[in-house]
Amino acid sequence: MPWRVPPADRQAGVLPDPYAVWMSEVMLQQTTVAAVRDYHRKFMALWPDVSALAAADDADVMAAWAGLGYYARARNLLKCARAVVADHGGIFPDTYDKLLTLPGIGPYTAAAVAAIAFDRSETVVDGNVERVMARLYDVHAPLPGAKPQLTDLAAALTPPERPGDYAQAVMDLGATICTPRNPACGICPWRGPCAARDAGTAAALPKKTPK
Ligand code: ADE
Repeated sequence: MPWRVPPADRQAGVLPDPYAVWMSEVMLQQTTVAAVRDYHRKFMALWPDVSALAAADDADVMAAWAGLGYYARARNLLKCARAVVADHGGIFPDTYDKLLTLPGIGPYTAAAVAAIAFDRSETVVDGNVERVMARLYDVHAPLPGAKPQLTDLAAALTPPERPGDYAQAVMDLGATICTPRNPACGICPWRGPCAARDAGTAAALPKKTPK
């Protein structure tokens, strides 16, 4: 993923560009990593920093977004960029609480940017993380009701060291190994402690309340 910092640089303490991380998280909200990659590259080439994006024509941004869908995200992207410039001198705020005040940034995005771009100990919970937690702890309570419980479990596991790398590792685990169907438990780094693997329930979790 082009917005990530290579492992050797991360080990040396280099953090990713908050602007690039924020953009990736907004794009990834309803779109797969595979589809986001090229759009992210294009946006970073057209508008390399938040000031450039804030100064962009709305129509140019909407045109560049075409194909990603959910156009409210593109309008919020612009609104947020302009607020960062107008209210924060063009510098992304570096805490969860301050990020949450920006337009279009909700609890998920605030936690993701704080953890990934600023190494803050925030817990990032998306659908991947919920699934991994439900299986690791063999939680049978159905979503969405089980959300607070799964969030608490994820928070308890979040390490004080490198919380952003940890958050992305759990999301990657959910996207590649602990998949909704046919999870690859045999090669999972958490196969040892996984309660659902032990109980044989992994593929059936998380449960969902019927609509
Ligand atoms: N999905 C949303 N944000 C992500 C991230 N930072 N890494 C992996 N998958 C994600």
